[in-house]
Amino acid sequence: MDIHSEKILILDFGSQTTQLIARRIREQKVYSEIHPFNISLDKIRELKPSGIVLSGGPCSVYDTDAPHSDPGLFELGVPVLGICYGAQLMVQQLGGKVERAEKREFGKADLSVNYTEGLFAGLETGNFHHQVWMSHGDRIEQLPEGFSVTAVSAHSPYAAIRHTDNAFVGVQFHPEVAHTLIGNDVLRNFIFGICGCSPSWTMHSFIEANVQAIREKVGNGKVICALSGGVDSSVTAAIIHRAIGDQLTCIYVNNGLMRTNESESILRFFRQKTKLNVIDVDATEFFLGELAGVLDPEVKRKRIGLGFIKIFEEEAHKIGEVQYLAQGTLYPDVIESVSFRGEAPIKSHHNVGGLPDVMKLDLIEPLRELFKDEVRELGLELGLPEEAIYRQPFPGPGLGIRIMGEVTRERLEILRQADVIVLEEMRKAGWYRKVWQSFAVLLPIQTVGVMGDGRTYEHVIALRAVDSRDAMTADWSRLPYDLLGTISSRIINEVRGVNRVCYDISSKPPATIEWE
Ligand code: XMP
Repeated sequence: MDIHSEKILILDFGSQTTQLIARRIREQKVYSEIHPFNISLDKIRELKPSGIVLSGGPCSVYDTDAPHSDPGLFELGVPVLGICYGAQLMVQQLGGKVERAEKREFGKADLSVNYTEGLFAGLETGNFHHQVWMSHGDRIEQLPEGFSVTAVSAHSPYAAIRHTDNAFVGVQFHPEVAHTLIGNDVLRNFIFGICGCSPSWTMHSFIEANVQAIREKVGNGKVICALSGGVDSSVTAAIIHRAIGDQLTCIYVNNGLMRTNESESILRFFRQKTKLNVIDVDATEFFLGELAGVLDPEVKRKRIGLGFIKIFEEEAHKIGEVQYLAQGTLYPDVIESVSFRGEAPIKSHHNVGGLPDVMKLDLIEPLRELFKDEVRELGLELGLPEEAIYRQPFPGPGLGIRIMGEVTRERLEILRQADVIVLEEMRKAGWYRKVWQSFAVLLPIQTVGVMGDGRTYEHVIALRAVDSRDAMTADWSRLPYDLLGTISSRIINEVRGVNRVCYDISSKPPATIEWE
């Protein structure tokens, strides 16, 4: 079964919303993939797309170093949708003209449609105004031969265009953003009406195809997987288990830096609710030993990372001959590892990095094509319960990077007690799933307070809660004052050694989500 027989390729010209285009198309149950704008024609032919989308981008098509795709793609007989920069590039490459606009058009605009086939099928025409979202400083001034206008806005006489004979269409606005109220209609018309795709890429078909592929790849071999209790590794393990059952062994390493009862509840969950074969290793002593006296955050991370590799390797050896290592790499990790010009990585990843190189194992990464929300959907389809699917992300180095300064048993205990209160109250108030992450941080200072009749000189807890889509950027969550008040007074009353709670109101950038 080939679930990729119909796919839409998105060529990335550097827009901030390129990923959104892919997500919007996948929401319509059609598979889509993002590639750098300079992908070769041969590669495009090999991928056999049903349609191609040219994304927006920050450049002007007439700049000397503007990114251009191979104009030969207009001769492949494949439908093309140009969005903003992509539409302008299509116009320029096919013989029209693009110039700097007198007035930049940014934000909401009213679109009047005058041709209701193709992209605008089913939408109202004439004087009816559709709200769309624009963001451009250039505009199309002259259409290439064979093109006509299908919609206009106040500042864009060519807000949408089509070729009369070929399936080439372009829009000056961004159909992928939520402010464009007809965005989904436009994308649906492109992928179903113009490209002729069918809505066949579902999680059900994804599971069937991947289970099959994993079986073929692994044969009688053995696979190991590092389980963290997080959603990515849990779903990775679940789909591989569905494919090869007990040929998969999962290893859970307790590094002693987990939250209160977290290791126990993760293990209980896997043992009671799944049939996974899980080896658990309590390496608390080892990790606390490695961290003794360490103050520098990078040294902490390194020691924890290397410690993890060491323990994991030891356990893997005990299992005997193992050929494959399963990892929960996601699609954003894959596309973020090349910039849109196909050059250096934008972001280096800190997840379990280094294992495959050291261990010389082949990788199995069943989630490589999926966005986070798709991974959650997949997990539910595989039968994992909501509590596992909607857990907030938790960093590999755990509480180690939430204790500023030295990690000791006493300081871990203080942080654990504070942290459990944060989570309890967030859940109780219905905020746990509304935010990306919420947690406590222990600061390396003491401050003066007063309790009863006495002066105190005790620790400070910082509370951090952030909203984010992908952890690349984040904003502090606007938690209700009452909730902040409850968390603060519970921590100060219940956690011995803490007399002050602060709320972190920094965004990322310039701060990061974690404090170390
Ligand atoms: P920062 O602090 O870089 O965090 O804004 C972004 C996201 O990554 C998580 N994080 C980590 N996850 N190992 C991990 O597995 C790490 O070393 C690590 N550091 C940060 C963090 O919790 C947030 O979701």
